[in-house]
Amino acid sequence: MFKRTCLGTMAVLMLAAAQAEPAPWMSTALSPDQRADLIQAQLTRAEKLVLVHGYFGDDVIINPHYPPPPDAIRKALPRAAGYIAGIPRLGIPAQLETDASLGVSNQRHMRPGDTATALPATLATASSWNPQLAFQVGAVVGQETRDKGFNILLNGGVDLARDPRNGRNFEYAGEDPLLAGSVVGEAIRGAQSRHIISTAKHYAVNDQEIGRDWLSSNLSEKAMRESDLLAFEIAIERGAPGSIMCAYNRVNGVYSCENDFLLNKVLKGDWVYPGYVMSDWGGVHSTTKAAMAGLDQESAFEFDRDDYFGPALNAALDGPDGAALQARVDNMVHRILRSMFAYGLFDDPAVAGPSDVQAHGAVAQAAAEEGIVLLKNERGLLPLVAGAKRIVVIGGHADIGVLSGGGSAQVMPVGNAPEQEILVGGAGQDASGKNRIPTEKMIYDPPSPLAAIKAETHGKVAFDDGSDIAHAAAAARGADVAIVFVERWQREGTDAPDITLPGNQDALIAAVAKANKRTIVVLETGNPVAMPWIDSVGAVLEAWYPGNRGATAIGRILFGKVNPSGRLPITFPQSLEQLPRPVVPGKDLRQPDNRWTPNETLFDVDYNIEGSDIGYKWFAAKKLKPLFPFGHGLSYTSFTFGALSVSGTEVSFDVRNTGKRVGKAVGQVYAATPVAGERLVAFGKIELKPGETKHVTLAVDPRLLASFDVAAQLWRVAAGDYAFRLGASSAETSATATVHLDASTIKP
Ligand code: BGC
Repeated sequence: MFKRTCLGTMAVLMLAAAQAEPAPWMSTALSPDQRADLIQAQLTRAEKLVLVHGYFGDDVIINPHYPPPPDAIRKALPRAAGYIAGIPRLGIPAQLETDASLGVSNQRHMRPGDTATALPATLATASSWNPQLAFQVGAVVGQETRDKGFNILLNGGVDLARDPRNGRNFEYAGEDPLLAGSVVGEAIRGAQSRHIISTAKHYAVNDQEIGRDWLSSNLSEKAMRESDLLAFEIAIERGAPGSIMCAYNRVNGVYSCENDFLLNKVLKGDWVYPGYVMSDWGGVHSTTKAAMAGLDQESAFEFDRDDYFGPALNAALDGPDGAALQARVDNMVHRILRSMFAYGLFDDPAVAGPSDVQAHGAVAQAAAEEGIVLLKNERGLLPLVAGAKRIVVIGGHADIGVLSGGGSAQVMPVGNAPEQEILVGGAGQDASGKNRIPTEKMIYDPPSPLAAIKAETHGKVAFDDGSDIAHAAAAARGADVAIVFVERWQREGTDAPDITLPGNQDALIAAVAKANKRTIVVLETGNPVAMPWIDSVGAVLEAWYPGNRGATAIGRILFGKVNPSGRLPITFPQSLEQLPRPVVPGKDLRQPDNRWTPNETLFDVDYNIEGSDIGYKWFAAKKLKPLFPFGHGLSYTSFTFGALSVSGTEVSFDVRNTGKRVGKAVGQVYAATPVAGERLVAFGKIELKPGETKHVTLAVDPRLLASFDVAAQLWRVAAGDYAFRLGASSAETSATATVHLDASTIKP
């Protein structure tokens, strides 16, 4: 008896000692790769397959062919966009994925009361031309991701704006690879500073929504390397995302998630990317082909036509390609675990708790204040003086909030109330009648612009909803100033048919402007819009979808507490005829009801029309005059730029605030190479007091002076004269400098 008790005690003590000893892979002295190797050596084949196979994390039945998700997922906290089970015996945490870039999303509105800070749209953050601010925005979203118990954030949208109708442009950072890559890279870095994994998406050339599952983005390698891929390359270099999400579309005929060129050759080969590739939801089309092409994890398999990385992958491991596939599975698992170690998922697990929404709101406000662009301001109409006695605010639901973009990035904003949700279409069933299609709603972020304007003035502020144009014009007639809010809702899954403000909004502005010369237009759009009324209004602000503090930012800009400093990250065309594709390709093709129903229509989109000449480069090449050029944005002060000097890969210049207010200038340096047109090669945002001059030095990435040589597979700087140009936008020139560069090459 005594002996047995002693032995029992010893066993307990030994167990305790073993438990106290951390597993070898928990040593932070080791590299993420070493730690991944150590834990991976413990995994069985079945466990490895768990890590490469994702579930939809919500308990909505997505695909009637599959049973409801296991209880582990239903009970997984919280409901997620994606869920990958952990391996508890080894302490590998479950991967809980949430969208995304504009705040922690709650797309399906299925968690009443579950709100998050709505940051401005990524397009607005890009309009700040301030990557440091983008870092702070990313850090807020990353922190709230943790605070809700998620450890993977599906943000990092960096597809370039090839089309001003793209339904997701508001989730992206505009048309230029340097600006987009810098802004999104910093947002990713900010998010990951909160010890979660972030993605960069949607890789690659996912540049329109209509037919995104069936279209092929056709583009030469040279043009792709110099445009869409360069944006990813820069974002990945700056942000080092733990994961890349491959896109829905095909690229040159091959689905992105089984595209050997994109995944193996460019991403993992040329760019030596060490993280993992996850599929977009429904983006997988094969097992062995996708695995061997470089896909590392199937996300939410219920969205795919088959459970490709589930039992099918297990079976394929026993098939003829088994050995090569096993090596690939080991590499997939290594990449996933490596990112989990590298970004703190083991060392600093996310724990659900309250978020500091006050502090996060302050960042949202700063981002909105820098992202709103003053497009026009005649005779100093803005800023409004606090003494304006009668102000009429018209239209745009300005009495309830500011519009936000829809789709998987939809945030339920802090302070959300039912009256800020407007039903679109209606609740419905899919074609089978069995599955509920979640109701779509336009969500308005509080507070309302009306309340924000009232907070800025002692004057009398009236509101007219704009539905009756004559009534609105009559209200404007006697006012000191009329502020017309107009809006265009965009969402994932479809593109706008045109660039026209919907409904009666153009007519409303025209009528109000006729009634009151002091008319200001505030746009809440996810893209450029045409402005047939532009000559008749005094001032125009592009507020994009400005988020939870957007109205406050608009009020502060209107009344001059904040000096606007946003610059356009996307060209505003005058008309559709100016675009490379006046009609969105695939627009007239029938849209299937269900993604997994085999009734898709494959079609091609010819991006070789403009190649790498996206946006302002296209306008320059075709000698077209846009409505507002890329880089344009006004201030309440004025700046002058001094001479431009170029030395090696550095450019420098003086900038002076010649006005009476503190303001932020954006120095933009463009360069034309001997073989190609102008592109943005450097930019910097500089705050200046009245009368202050600063000297600015910016580095130029030599790839921006080069062309991609496909035969030699490298960047080539041609010998010759390079014309540099400094300006306040792509269409303005303050100083020029021409330098001769010798030939050189850069490895991708
Ligand atoms: C979107 C992704 C998103 C995913 C998960 C997809 O439809 O394209 O951007 O991260 O859904 O919600």
